[in-house]
Amino acid sequence: MTHPLPVGHHRPRRLRTSPRVRRLVSETRVHASDLVLPLFVKEGLDAPRPISSMPGVVQHTEATLADAVRDAARAGVGGVMLFGIPAERDATGTQADAEDGILQRGIRVAVEAAREHAGGGPVVMADTCLDEFTDHGHCGVLTTGRDGAIVVDNDATLDRYASMAVAQARAGTDVVAPSGMMDGHVGVIREALDAAGFDDVGILAYSAKYASAFYGPFREAVDSALQGDRRTYQMDAGNAREGLREADLDLAEGADMVMVKPAGSYLDVLAAVAEMSSVPVAAYQVSGEYAMIEAAAANGWIDRRAAVTESVLGIKRAGADVILTYWATELAGWLDENDGRTRA
Ligand code: PBG
Repeated sequence: MTHPLPVGHHRPRRLRTSPRVRRLVSETRVHASDLVLPLFVKEGLDAPRPISSMPGVVQHTEATLADAVRDAARAGVGGVMLFGIPAERDATGTQADAEDGILQRGIRVAVEAAREHAGGGPVVMADTCLDEFTDHGHCGVLTTGRDGAIVVDNDATLDRYASMAVAQARAGTDVVAPSGMMDGHVGVIREALDAAGFDDVGILAYSAKYASAFYGPFREAVDSALQGDRRTYQMDAGNAREGLREADLDLAEGADMVMVKPAGSYLDVLAAVAEMSSVPVAAYQVSGEYAMIEAAAANGWIDRRAAVTESVLGIKRAGADVILTYWATELAGWLDENDGRTRA
């Protein structure tokens, strides 16, 4: 015997009965324009080189970088985030702000490829950090601290970031993205850009950036030689309030956008930053988040497309306006722009 529900009893399932109704009442939609594709360009490569821990992602040559930007543009992706891998590294990351350094060359290539597209293509952004350029792999220059410990020198590093941001602006980037978690980085970069006549170049601040195991595959992606760890500058995984403080400081220093990174394990921080921020909020679905889904899917343990879509939807739902993801171009190709949801 069936039990009819009492009069007035609610049936939320009514809004799930058909794809038409589900489409109508869907609260969160991802659009291609929300997505930013991170791209790696390596100096001196003849052909793109696969990154084994990130299946489907490569280190680009300058020529294939242009192709990747064109593909992203055609798919309607909102932005690209460039990382450069130099042939030579040294203690202060000389190549980071060299006019002809690989990242500056990559920016010029990406801007040119993007502008071929009607409407100008994706916004070109560049990572403003030293770790790809230093031989010790830290995000700043080193000094000897108390008790003879080797530490990252905050204020000496700020000078390097300022110079790097100006070099990136000269190469044509739309946005610089300081990711080194140095105190005062946004303010110093803003002043340097303005003084050099680049008041129109934006700053996407990696504000709440945690010292995360999920950056593992990225180290392979940039051939990193990191000695030690980043715990004296990136944040402790347990600290949410501190993430809000970092976002507050970056806003006060003039950040045009703030970011939470990684995304998936920090959705509470993302939601809290989205609540307090007066500027758009970005979230970075990092290399390890990518690798986990790819690895499980390759084993046939999860449905790749459904898992990718769900993971990005969760980041959007938590409050991200902008989402950096290595699936940006592919995911954009799955989205129905009339619908903002993945086609079945
Ligand atoms: C620093 C930087 C890192 C990532 C983006 N910018 C590495 C780090 O902080 O250790 C990681 C991105 C990823 O894992 O996908 N230049």
